[in-house]
Amino acid sequence: MGRLIDGNPFTSFVARPSTDAYDPSFEASAQPRSDEIDRTFLDAMTVRYKVFIVEQKVPLECELDEDDPRSCHWVAYMGHRADNGQAAPQQVVGCIRAVPYPQSPHPIPGAAYTIVDGVNRIKGRWVRKSNEARDDGELGSPLPPPTASTPPSELEFVTASADDGLAAAQVAGADRATVLHNGIEPYIKLGRIAVLSEFRGLRLGQFLVQTALDWIKANPTYFDQHDSAAAAATAGCKFAGLVCVHAQTHALGFYTRLGFVIDEGMGTWWEEGIQHVGMFLRLDITQ
Ligand SMILES: CC(C)(COP(=O)(O)OP(=O)(O)OC[C@H]1O[C@@H](n2cnc3c(N)ncnc32)[C@H](O)[C@@H]1OP(=O)(O)O)[C@@H](O)C(=O)NCCC(=O)NCCS
Repeated sequence: MGRLIDGNPFTSFVARPSTDAYDPSFEASAQPRSDEIDRTFLDAMTVRYKVFIVEQKVPLECELDEDDPRSCHWVAYMGHRADNGQAAPQQVVGCIRAVPYPQSPHPIPGAAYTIVDGVNRIKGRWVRKSNEARDDGELGSPLPPPTASTPPSELEFVTASADDGLAAAQVAGADRATVLHNGIEPYIKLGRIAVLSEFRGLRLGQFLVQTALDWIKANPTYFDQHDSAAAAATAGCKFAGLVCVHAQTHALGFYTRLGFVIDEGMGTWWEEGIQHVGMFLRLDITQ
Protein backbone atom coordinates (compact mmCIF):
# COMPACT_ATOMS: atom_id res chain seq x y z
CA MET A 1 0.00 0.00 0.00
CA GLY A 2 1.30 3.41 -0.93
CA ARG A 3 0.58 6.71 0.75
CA LEU A 4 -2.57 8.69 0.16
CA ILE A 5 -2.62 11.40 -2.45
CA ASP A 6 -3.93 14.64 -0.98
CA GLY A 7 -7.39 15.37 -2.28
CA ASN A 8 -10.99 14.53 -1.82
CA PRO A 9 -12.36 11.02 -1.70
CA PHE A 10 -15.21 10.30 -4.08
CA THR A 11 -18.06 7.82 -4.09
CA SER A 12 -19.65 5.44 -6.51
CA PHE A 13 -23.34 4.62 -6.10
CA VAL A 14 -25.46 1.61 -6.97
CA ALA A 15 -29.18 1.32 -6.28
CA ARG A 16 -30.81 -2.03 -5.62
CA PRO A 17 -28.10 -4.24 -7.18
CA SER A 18 -29.02 -7.75 -8.23
CA THR A 19 -27.33 -10.28 -5.94
CA ASP A 20 -28.45 -13.31 -7.97
CA ALA A 21 -24.92 -14.02 -9.21
CA TYR A 22 -23.26 -13.40 -5.83
CA ASP A 23 -22.24 -16.64 -4.09
CA PRO A 24 -22.08 -16.00 -0.32
CA SER A 25 -19.77 -18.97 0.20
CA PHE A 26 -16.95 -17.12 -1.63
CA GLU A 27 -15.24 -13.88 -0.66
CA ALA A 28 -15.85 -10.90 -2.95
CA SER A 29 -12.53 -11.15 -4.79
CA ALA A 30 -13.13 -14.83 -5.64
CA GLN A 31 -16.71 -14.67 -6.90
CA PRO A 32 -17.12 -17.33 -9.63
CA ARG A 33 -19.58 -15.13 -11.57
CA SER A 34 -17.93 -11.77 -10.88
CA ASP A 35 -18.59 -10.58 -14.46
CA GLU A 36 -22.32 -10.65 -13.74
CA ILE A 37 -22.07 -8.62 -10.51
CA ASP A 38 -22.26 -4.82 -10.41
CA ARG A 39 -18.71 -3.46 -9.98
CA THR A 40 -19.65 -0.99 -7.24
CA PHE A 41 -21.48 -3.67 -5.27
CA LEU A 42 -18.49 -6.00 -5.65
CA ASP A 43 -16.23 -3.25 -4.30
CA ALA A 44 -18.58 -2.77 -1.33
CA MET A 45 -18.44 -6.50 -0.63
CA THR A 46 -14.64 -6.40 -0.86
CA VAL A 47 -14.53 -3.78 1.92
CA ARG A 48 -17.15 -5.66 3.95
CA TYR A 49 -15.16 -8.89 3.61
CA LYS A 50 -11.98 -7.26 4.92
CA VAL A 51 -13.68 -5.42 7.78
CA PHE A 52 -16.52 -7.65 8.97
CA ILE A 53 -15.30 -11.14 8.01
CA VAL A 54 -11.53 -10.86 8.46
CA GLU A 55 -11.27 -8.16 11.14
CA GLN A 56 -14.48 -8.68 13.13
CA LYS A 57 -14.66 -12.46 12.56
CA VAL A 58 -18.24 -12.55 11.27
CA PRO A 59 -18.84 -15.86 9.40
CA LEU A 60 -18.41 -15.46 5.62
CA GLU A 61 -21.86 -16.82 4.77
CA CYS A 62 -23.51 -14.21 7.08
CA GLU A 63 -22.32 -11.16 5.14
CA LEU A 64 -24.69 -11.02 2.17
CA ASP A 65 -28.27 -10.65 3.33
CA GLU A 66 -31.78 -10.16 2.00
CA ASP A 67 -31.51 -6.37 2.43
CA ASP A 68 -28.62 -6.01 -0.04
CA PRO A 69 -30.71 -6.19 -3.25
CA ARG A 70 -33.29 -3.73 -1.78
CA SER A 71 -30.70 -1.18 -0.68
CA CYS A 72 -28.75 1.73 -2.13
CA HIS A 73 -24.99 1.35 -1.70
CA TRP A 74 -22.13 3.83 -1.76
CA VAL A 75 -18.46 2.97 -2.06
CA ALA A 76 -15.70 5.48 -1.26
CA TYR A 77 -12.45 5.59 -3.21
CA MET A 78 -9.22 7.51 -2.95
CA GLY A 79 -6.26 7.78 -5.23
CA HIS A 80 -2.95 6.64 -3.80
CA ARG A 81 0.66 6.75 -4.86
CA ALA A 82 2.66 3.54 -4.96
CA ASP A 83 5.92 3.38 -3.00
CA ASN A 84 7.86 3.97 -6.24
CA GLY A 85 6.10 7.33 -6.62
CA GLN A 86 3.90 6.22 -9.50
CA ALA A 87 0.23 7.16 -9.34
CA ALA A 88 -1.67 3.94 -8.78
CA PRO A 89 -5.28 3.15 -9.65
CA GLN A 90 -7.92 4.41 -7.30
CA GLN A 91 -8.18 2.53 -4.06
CA VAL A 92 -11.51 1.35 -2.63
CA VAL A 93 -11.56 2.47 1.02
CA GLY A 94 -15.06 2.24 2.47
CA CYS A 95 -18.76 1.55 2.00
CA ILE A 96 -22.25 2.06 3.42
CA ARG A 97 -25.79 1.06 2.49
CA ALA A 98 -29.27 2.50 3.04
CA VAL A 99 -31.99 -0.09 3.62
CA PRO A 100 -35.52 1.05 2.78
CA TYR A 101 -38.66 0.55 4.84
CA PRO A 102 -40.39 -1.71 5.65
CA GLN A 103 -37.84 -2.86 8.21
CA SER A 104 -37.89 -6.10 10.14
CA PRO A 105 -39.12 -5.58 13.73
CA HIS A 106 -36.78 -3.90 16.21
CA PRO A 107 -34.44 -6.49 17.74
CA ILE A 108 -35.45 -8.04 21.04
CA PRO A 109 -33.35 -6.67 23.92
CA GLY A 110 -30.86 -9.28 25.06
CA ALA A 111 -31.34 -11.56 22.07
CA ALA A 112 -28.55 -12.98 19.91
CA TYR A 113 -28.98 -12.87 16.13
CA THR A 114 -27.29 -14.54 13.20
CA ILE A 115 -27.86 -14.50 9.45
CA VAL A 116 -29.04 -17.82 8.01
CA ASP A 117 -29.50 -18.03 4.23
CA GLY A 118 -29.46 -14.24 4.04
CA VAL A 119 -32.15 -13.76 6.71
CA ASN A 120 -31.45 -12.30 10.16
CA ARG A 121 -32.65 -14.89 12.69
CA ILE A 122 -32.89 -14.91 16.47
CA LYS A 123 -30.68 -17.67 17.83
CA GLY A 124 -31.63 -17.23 21.49
CA ARG A 125 -30.01 -15.52 24.46
CA TRP A 126 -27.34 -16.06 27.06
CA VAL A 127 -28.43 -16.63 30.66
CA ARG A 128 -26.54 -17.47 33.85
CA LYS A 129 -26.41 -21.24 34.41
CA SER A 130 -28.07 -20.91 37.78
CA ASN A 131 -31.24 -19.75 35.98
CA GLU A 132 -33.08 -23.06 35.94
CA ALA A 133 -35.76 -23.52 33.31
CA ARG A 134 -38.81 -21.70 34.61
CA ASP A 135 -42.32 -23.14 34.74
CA ASP A 136 -43.81 -20.03 33.15
CA GLY A 137 -41.64 -20.41 30.07
CA GLU A 138 -39.91 -17.04 30.69
CA LEU A 139 -36.19 -16.85 30.12
CA GLY A 140 -33.70 -15.61 32.71
CA SER A 141 -32.13 -12.15 32.53
CA PRO A 142 -30.29 -11.67 29.22
CA LEU A 143 -26.53 -11.36 29.39
CA PRO A 144 -23.75 -10.61 26.92
CA PRO A 145 -21.97 -13.55 25.30
CA PRO A 146 -19.11 -15.00 27.38
CA THR A 147 -16.29 -12.55 28.17
CA ALA A 148 -13.36 -12.50 30.58
CA SER A 149 -15.69 -11.35 33.37
CA THR A 150 -18.44 -13.87 32.61
CA PRO A 151 -16.61 -17.01 31.38
CA PRO A 152 -18.43 -19.67 29.34
CA SER A 153 -18.54 -21.96 32.39
CA GLU A 154 -21.01 -19.56 34.07
CA LEU A 155 -23.31 -19.12 31.10
CA GLU A 156 -25.55 -21.18 28.95
CA PHE A 157 -27.18 -20.35 25.66
CA VAL A 158 -30.95 -20.77 25.56
CA THR A 159 -32.00 -21.38 21.98
CA ALA A 160 -35.06 -19.51 20.76
CA SER A 161 -38.03 -21.78 20.34
CA ALA A 162 -41.51 -21.28 18.96
CA ASP A 163 -43.10 -21.02 22.39
CA ASP A 164 -40.65 -18.84 24.35
CA GLY A 165 -41.73 -15.53 22.85
CA LEU A 166 -38.36 -14.83 21.23
CA ALA A 167 -38.96 -16.64 17.96
CA ALA A 168 -42.57 -15.47 17.94
CA ALA A 169 -41.49 -11.83 18.24
CA GLN A 170 -39.50 -12.16 15.06
CA VAL A 171 -42.52 -12.97 12.91
CA ALA A 172 -44.92 -10.52 14.53
CA GLY A 173 -46.07 -8.02 11.89
CA ALA A 174 -46.35 -4.75 13.82
CA ASP A 175 -43.29 -3.26 15.45
CA ARG A 176 -43.10 -2.29 19.10
CA ALA A 177 -42.95 1.38 20.03
CA THR A 178 -39.63 2.54 21.44
CA VAL A 179 -38.58 5.94 22.78
CA LEU A 180 -37.75 7.47 19.39
CA HIS A 181 -39.94 5.37 17.10
CA ASN A 182 -43.70 4.92 17.44
CA GLY A 183 -43.57 1.44 15.88
CA ILE A 184 -45.39 2.63 12.74
CA GLU A 185 -43.45 5.44 11.05
CA PRO A 186 -41.36 4.23 8.07
CA TYR A 187 -37.63 4.77 8.45
CA ILE A 188 -34.47 4.16 6.45
CA LYS A 189 -31.69 2.17 8.09
CA LEU A 190 -28.05 2.95 7.36
CA GLY A 191 -25.78 -0.02 7.81
CA ARG A 192 -22.75 -2.05 6.81
CA ILE A 193 -20.62 1.07 7.16
CA ALA A 194 -16.98 0.11 7.00
CA VAL A 195 -13.67 1.84 6.33
CA LEU A 196 -10.55 -0.24 5.73
CA SER A 197 -8.44 -0.19 8.90
CA GLU A 198 -5.47 1.54 7.23
CA PHE A 199 -7.71 4.44 6.14
CA ARG A 200 -9.49 5.12 9.45
CA GLY A 201 -9.44 8.48 11.19
CA LEU A 202 -9.47 10.39 7.88
CA ARG A 203 -13.16 11.32 8.16
CA LEU A 204 -14.05 8.78 5.47
CA GLY A 205 -16.70 7.20 7.70
CA GLN A 206 -18.23 10.61 8.32
CA PHE A 207 -18.04 11.33 4.58
CA LEU A 208 -19.89 8.09 3.77
CA VAL A 209 -22.69 8.70 6.30
CA GLN A 210 -23.05 12.31 5.14
CA THR A 211 -23.15 11.19 1.50
CA ALA A 212 -25.99 8.76 2.27
CA LEU A 213 -27.89 11.32 4.39
CA ASP A 214 -27.55 14.01 1.69
CA TRP A 215 -28.85 11.57 -0.90
CA ILE A 216 -31.86 10.61 1.26
CA LYS A 217 -32.61 14.30 1.79
CA ALA A 218 -32.47 14.93 -1.94
CA ASN A 219 -34.44 11.77 -2.83
CA PRO A 220 -36.96 11.23 -0.02
CA THR A 221 -39.47 9.41 -2.23
CA TYR A 222 -36.94 7.29 -4.15
CA PHE A 223 -37.86 4.01 -2.48
CA ASP A 224 -41.61 4.68 -2.78
CA GLN A 225 -41.11 5.00 -6.53
CA HIS A 226 -38.86 1.97 -7.01
CA ASP A 227 -39.85 -0.58 -4.38
CA SER A 228 -43.43 -1.81 -4.18
CA ALA A 229 -42.97 -2.97 -0.57
CA ALA A 230 -41.71 0.50 0.40
CA ALA A 231 -44.62 2.13 -1.39
CA ALA A 232 -47.06 -0.12 0.46
CA ALA A 233 -45.36 0.65 3.78
CA THR A 234 -45.94 4.39 3.27
CA ALA A 235 -49.57 4.10 2.23
CA GLY A 236 -50.77 5.19 5.68
CA CYS A 237 -47.75 7.10 6.96
CA LYS A 238 -45.27 8.90 4.70
CA PHE A 239 -41.49 8.80 5.12
CA ALA A 240 -40.65 11.90 7.18
CA GLY A 241 -36.87 11.78 7.30
CA LEU A 242 -36.40 9.25 10.10
CA VAL A 243 -33.08 7.39 9.82
CA CYS A 244 -31.89 4.58 12.07
CA VAL A 245 -28.59 2.83 12.68
CA HIS A 246 -27.96 -0.39 14.56
CA ALA A 247 -24.68 0.74 16.05
CA GLN A 248 -21.93 -1.50 17.32
CA THR A 249 -21.39 -0.11 20.82
CA HIS A 250 -17.74 0.78 20.11
CA ALA A 251 -18.95 3.14 17.35
CA LEU A 252 -21.44 5.12 19.48
CA GLY A 253 -19.18 8.17 19.56
CA PHE A 254 -18.88 8.09 15.78
CA TYR A 255 -22.65 8.22 15.27
CA THR A 256 -23.22 10.73 18.10
CA ARG A 257 -20.89 13.19 16.35
CA LEU A 258 -23.09 12.81 13.26
CA GLY A 259 -26.25 13.72 15.19
CA PHE A 260 -27.68 10.26 15.94
CA VAL A 261 -29.28 9.78 19.38
CA ILE A 262 -29.46 6.49 21.28
CA ASP A 263 -32.96 5.05 21.55
CA GLU A 264 -32.99 3.74 25.12
CA GLY A 265 -36.20 1.86 24.35
CA MET A 266 -34.42 -0.43 21.91
CA GLY A 267 -32.10 -1.91 24.53
CA THR A 268 -29.01 -3.84 23.43
CA TRP A 269 -28.71 -7.05 21.47
CA TRP A 270 -25.99 -9.10 19.77
CA GLU A 271 -25.48 -9.67 16.04
CA GLU A 272 -22.89 -12.36 15.28
CA GLY A 273 -21.72 -11.92 18.89
CA ILE A 274 -21.24 -8.13 18.53
CA GLN A 275 -23.21 -5.87 20.88
CA HIS A 276 -25.50 -3.32 19.21
CA VAL A 277 -27.77 -0.42 20.22
CA GLY A 278 -30.37 1.51 18.21
CA MET A 279 -29.88 5.17 17.30
CA PHE A 280 -32.07 7.60 15.33
CA LEU A 281 -31.65 10.90 13.51
CA ARG A 282 -34.36 12.97 11.83
CA LEU A 283 -33.56 14.67 8.54
CA ASP A 284 -35.43 17.81 7.56
CA ILE A 285 -36.98 16.82 4.21
CA THR A 286 -39.64 19.51 4.14
CA GLN A 287 -38.17 21.84 1.47
C1 LIG B 1 -16.77 3.17 12.44
C2 LIG B 1 -15.87 3.51 11.23
C3 LIG B 1 -16.70 3.34 9.96
C4 LIG B 1 -15.42 4.96 11.36
O1 LIG B 1 -14.71 5.30 10.18
P1 LIG B 1 -13.55 6.42 10.17
O2 LIG B 1 -13.34 6.82 8.78
O3 LIG B 1 -12.38 5.96 10.93
O4 LIG B 1 -14.25 7.59 11.03
P2 LIG B 1 -14.04 9.15 10.83
O5 LIG B 1 -12.60 9.43 10.59
O6 LIG B 1 -15.01 9.64 9.81
O7 LIG B 1 -14.49 9.66 12.26
C5 LIG B 1 -15.37 10.74 12.44
C6 LIG B 1 -15.40 11.05 13.92
O8 LIG B 1 -15.84 9.91 14.66
C7 LIG B 1 -14.83 9.52 15.59
N1 LIG B 1 -14.79 8.05 15.60
C8 LIG B 1 -14.45 7.26 14.57
N2 LIG B 1 -14.55 5.97 14.93
C9 LIG B 1 -14.96 5.98 16.21
C10 LIG B 1 -15.25 4.96 17.13
N3 LIG B 1 -15.14 3.68 16.82
N4 LIG B 1 -15.65 5.34 18.37
C11 LIG B 1 -15.77 6.63 18.71
N5 LIG B 1 -15.52 7.65 17.86
C12 LIG B 1 -15.11 7.32 16.64
C13 LIG B 1 -13.55 10.11 15.08
O9 LIG B 1 -12.64 10.34 16.15
C14 LIG B 1 -14.03 11.40 14.47
O10 LIG B 1 -14.24 12.37 15.48
P3 LIG B 1 -13.83 13.89 15.27
O11 LIG B 1 -14.73 14.38 14.17
O12 LIG B 1 -14.09 14.52 16.58
O13 LIG B 1 -12.40 13.85 14.89
C15 LIG B 1 -14.60 2.62 11.18
O14 LIG B 1 -13.97 2.69 12.43
C16 LIG B 1 -14.87 1.16 10.85
O15 LIG B 1 -14.98 0.78 9.69
N6 LIG B 1 -14.97 0.30 11.88
C17 LIG B 1 -15.15 -1.12 11.67
C18 LIG B 1 -16.52 -1.44 11.14
C19 LIG B 1 -17.59 -0.98 12.08
O16 LIG B 1 -17.50 -1.18 13.29
N7 LIG B 1 -18.63 -0.38 11.52
C20 LIG B 1 -19.70 0.19 12.30
C21 LIG B 1 -20.78 -0.79 12.41
S1 LIG B 1 -22.11 -0.10 13.34
